[in-house]
Amino acid sequence: MNPPPTIRPMTPADWPAVWALFREVAAAGDVFAYDEHTPEEVARALWFGPGAVGYVVESGGEVVGTYFVRPAQPGRGNHVANAGYMVAPAARGRGLASRMCGHSLDVARRLGYRAMQYVFVVSTNAAAVRVWEKHGFAVVGRVPGAFRHAAHGLVDTLVMYREL
Ligand SMILES: CC(C)(COP(=O)(O)OP(=O)(O)OC[C@H]1O[C@@H](n2cnc3c(N)ncnc32)[C@H](O)[C@@H]1OP(=O)(O)O)[C@@H](O)C(=O)NCCC(=O)NCCS
Repeated sequence: MNPPPTIRPMTPADWPAVWALFREVAAAGDVFAYDEHTPEEVARALWFGPGAVGYVVESGGEVVGTYFVRPAQPGRGNHVANAGYMVAPAARGRGLASRMCGHSLDVARRLGYRAMQYVFVVSTNAAAVRVWEKHGFAVVGRVPGAFRHAAHGLVDTLVMYREL
């Protein structure tokens, strides 16, 4: 039996696995603005760009989840963190996003951020909204029709926020 999944800092060697997961999620067209045309370097910068830190969830030697934390804005907005999370489809529904969310809040606090803001949560992404609300995030804004969902057409996006 595999040991329980562990969260550890991401290294460049993890990138191929994370990029494969990113492409899979992007291609589904249901939760990310990033789509199948997103260049690899644009995605890579989310985890490895200036100010960004990345973590992966490893289970049985495989990357089954990942997240990044980075400044939501440059300069005078860089005390607020942004983060993004993905769990491999086969590993969903086992609390990994919830663990990553809690972990990322600790990481952000340690890095000195004052708050965390998710800027583009697709309103139909019920699992994500549930996990973020459980971790103390509130919906502070709703942008009508901001996402072109592959199955549902125009759907709203949410801005979610919590202090740290
Ligand atoms: C969203 C995502 C990160 C969740 O990962 P996960 O590891 O399955 O999440 P968890 O197991 O920690 O928690 C899922 C929660 O949502 C609930 N849930 C799942 N599907 C649901 C649905 N359709 N409606 C309502 N709640 C749902 C689960 O019951 C669980 O809540 P509970 O712990 O109170 O029972 C994962 O689905 C994913 O990677 N999706 C693609 C990328 C993405 O959407 N990222 C977030 C962008 S904001």
